[in-house]
Order: sequence, then C-alpha cells, then structure tokens
Amino acid sequence: MPINRREILRSLSVVGALGLPSARVSRAQDDDANNWPDSPFLSGNYAPVFEEIEAENLRVVGRIPEALEGMFVRNGPNPQFPPIGNYHWFDGDGMLHGVLLRGGKASYRNRWVRTHGFVEEREAGRAIWGGLSNPPNPALLAQGKPMFKNAANTSVVWHDGKLLALWEGGEPHIISVPDLGTVGPYDFAGRLKHAFTAHPKIDPQTGEMFCFGYQPVRPYLQYSVVDAEGTLQSTTPIDLPKPVMMHDFAITEHHAIFMDLPATFNFVRMLSGGPFLSFEPDRGARFGILPRKGDGSQIRWFESPSCYVFHTLNAFEEGDEIVLIACRYERFPGSLGMGGPPLEGRPDAPGPIDEDPRLHRWRFNLATGATTEETLDDLPCEFPRINDTVMGRPSRFGYVMDSAMTGFHKVDLHGGPILHHPHGPGRLGGEGVFVPRPDATTEDDGWLITYVFDQASETSELVVIDTLAFDEGPVARILIPSRIPYGFHGTWLPASVLG
Ligand SMILES: [Fe+2]
Repeated sequence: MPINRREILRSLSVVGALGLPSARVSRAQDDDANNWPDSPFLSGNYAPVFEEIEAENLRVVGRIPEALEGMFVRNGPNPQFPPIGNYHWFDGDGMLHGVLLRGGKASYRNRWVRTHGFVEEREAGRAIWGGLSNPPNPALLAQGKPMFKNAANTSVVWHDGKLLALWEGGEPHIISVPDLGTVGPYDFAGRLKHAFTAHPKIDPQTGEMFCFGYQPVRPYLQYSVVDAEGTLQSTTPIDLPKPVMMHDFAITEHHAIFMDLPATFNFVRMLSGGPFLSFEPDRGARFGILPRKGDGSQIRWFESPSCYVFHTLNAFEEGDEIVLIACRYERFPGSLGMGGPPLEGRPDAPGPIDEDPRLHRWRFNLATGATTEETLDDLPCEFPRINDTVMGRPSRFGYVMDSAMTGFHKVDLHGGPILHHPHGPGRLGGEGVFVPRPDATTEDDGWLITYVFDQASETSELVVIDTLAFDEGPVARILIPSRIPYGFHGTWLPASVLG
C-alpha cells in the first residue's frame, strides 16, 4: 500500500479541543492497571471507562421538562488501551455519551467511535499509535499507516440528517442515532480535501455548514462551504505566512472570521530538538474576514496584540463592523505543551488552565480598517456557547463554564448582570449546551444541559438548568449508572430528527 504523504502530513496537524480543569490524582483503573502510566489525564474523572452500556428508566431528581424531548450527545477522550509514550487528554479514543429523553423518561448509552485506528488497535489488543506529544514512529509509515490515529474525540455536529463525530486532524465519522453506532468515515462524497474542524458553523437561517481544516504543510488553511442538502459546494485555500493551530472560527451573516494566532507548527524547530508546536507572541495576532462564499484571496486581515483563542462565542455584523466575541488567553496555555505539571498555587489541579481565558470582544471596521477590542469581564471562563438559533446574528446571551469547572455563568452582552449557577461542593461539570424551548419567544428561554461529576460519590449525572431561572438549582438531575469521564463538546438532537 503506497504511503500517502499528504495524508501523513495532514495527520500531523492534529490537536483537539480545550479548556482544562481539575481533578484528584489517582490511577486509572483497569484489569491491566500496571500498564497504565501515572498521568493527570488518566486519573480521577479523567480516567477512561471500559464498558459500553445501555440503561433505561434512569432515576430523576426533580422533573424532566415535558418539552425537552430529544437526545444529548457529548464526545470526549477515552483510551481503550494503555498509551504508548506520553499521554495527553487530547489523545484518547473518542467515546460518545448520550442521554435520550422521551415521554418523561431517560435512557443512557455510551459508545466508542469505531475509527479504523480504533478497530485495528482492538484487533491487536494494544495501542499501535502514540499520542500527539510523541515523536512520529517511522515504522508506522513503513507499514502504510497514518502517523497519528484519528481519535474522533472532540465534538459532534448534526447536519443534513447526519450526526458527525469530529476531530480536527482528520475526517468526520458518521454516527447512527439514537444507538450511537459508528457508520464510518465521511468525506462528503469525495469532495472533502482537508481535515475537518471540530467547530463547524451552521447558519440557522440558510442551513449551510461552514468548515475549515488546517495542516502544517501548504496550503496551511482551507475553507469549505456545505449547502443545506449536505453537498460540499466549494473549497478555497487561505494563505498564511506560517502554519498555526486554529481550533475554531466564526461566521456572521455575510462573512467568515479566521484567527491567525501565533501558536505555530515548525518542522525545522522540531528536528533541532524544539517543540513542533510553540507559541510565538512576537508574531502578534491577525483576524481574517472573508466573504462567506468568497475566494481565499479576498480575505482581509486585521492585526491585533498577541493572544490565543480556542473557542468563539459568536460573531455578528453591526453597521460597518464585524463583532467577534471569544474566550481570549493572553498566552497559549503552557500545559497544552503536553506535560501538564501541577500548577503553582493550585496543587489540586493536574496541569490544566494555567492561563485564565476571559470573554473578549473585537470590533473589525470594514470601512476604516480599524480594530478595537476590550475584555468584557474578569471572569475566567471557557467552553462558551449560545442559543445556536442566533449563530452569526446579533446575540445577547452567552453561557460559559468557569475555568475551574465548578459551574456556569450566564452573560448578558447588553450589560445586564452576570448570573452564576454553581454545581455545588465537589461537583464539576463541562461545557453547557443550550436547548431552546420549542415555543420560546426570547433568546434565553430554554435549558442548559451538561454532565456533572460528583467527586464524593464518584457518580455522574445529566443536569438540566432552566435558563430563565439560572441561579436556581437544576430542574432535573438525571442519574447515570456509570461514570462519565470529563470530555469536550456536545450537541442536542431534538426528537424531530431522531425519528
Ligand atoms: Fe473545542
């Protein structure tokens, strides 16, 4: 089998999601525990689970809202075998955790995403691929295998009647619903020619999906538009001076916004003993504005002080200005350099967010070329989400996870008070997914849902928060009979799409 150099190099672009929290350090538990290395990302509630289960009629504390019918699906890393070499949270095999709400009852199931790499390792009974922080293994190339395994572990998106499991270093995988089985990799009928971001954007009014892929060889960035019927209509390269890690982007009604931030890939640096991925703040930051269906050569760059952004909240147009709101880091988090040592002054944290991101607003004036920006609040936060029905349009409310994972904040971008929803002592949760109430008349009428882990009982639950009563307790806590490890991004599938 010939080695596909392009595939190999594309797979090097890797690197997944974000935010990084705290958990106690203990060892991963498995029949073969001696083979599992000590790692904060294999300990506490970062440790993988090894059973795929189905459970019906889950116990509910409170009451599931009648109008909340559908399925919550969240992706996250869950290695099936002890890792080769260094392990980072981004490396684990993707596992989907889904809770189906129907007729006032709840059921749960979890399933690994069965990528080619996952299946090959399962047949071998051991890990074959090392993680992202390990040097490439030439033997894999000689065997015609990709340099890195598509972990399919970062996110999920629903589009064109398909649920896709996403990993930004490779192609999506189709997942069947509600059983969460893996159908297989998906390349949009052969039209997808680049890796696929974990953060595509869907225009709620047109149904189009906008996506991009980056890689450490030219073209460093490519951007594609998928129409509402699921046909990938166009791909255009976007010129960058250096290859960079680009985890997310944003759209407005007429534009796409790309973030050329100075987390750079460099083969020469790596071959001389340095890191492949490094933060070069002297390069500054640039934000590119491109007409949504434009050619990459039409992009217009706006310069800004150096920073890093993993996740955008939203973007929209106001007169001549493009407004972007995102969680901004002053520097690229050092712990993402794959070591993750405990933080000074935060010994309980396994090496997570050593730079606290804050909500930040940039304004790019298309008439004058000026950029203005401001931090909206000192609140350390990550995993920003909105009501997706206002994606790319002026929006008022954002929902963010506090950096310590202890709760959520509801942010009013019109200057109203920031509301807090704590998960409670010893309880940590992940990203909140907003579900609009079916008959909602306001942007913030709905629920915020997430998995919460209780450290004392070592149990997990799905928490449903009424976003119109945000600082009150959850309206429902759906108890899961299996631990759900901390993970990355999820989505809500309304009952109407489940059939
Ligand atoms: Fe992400």
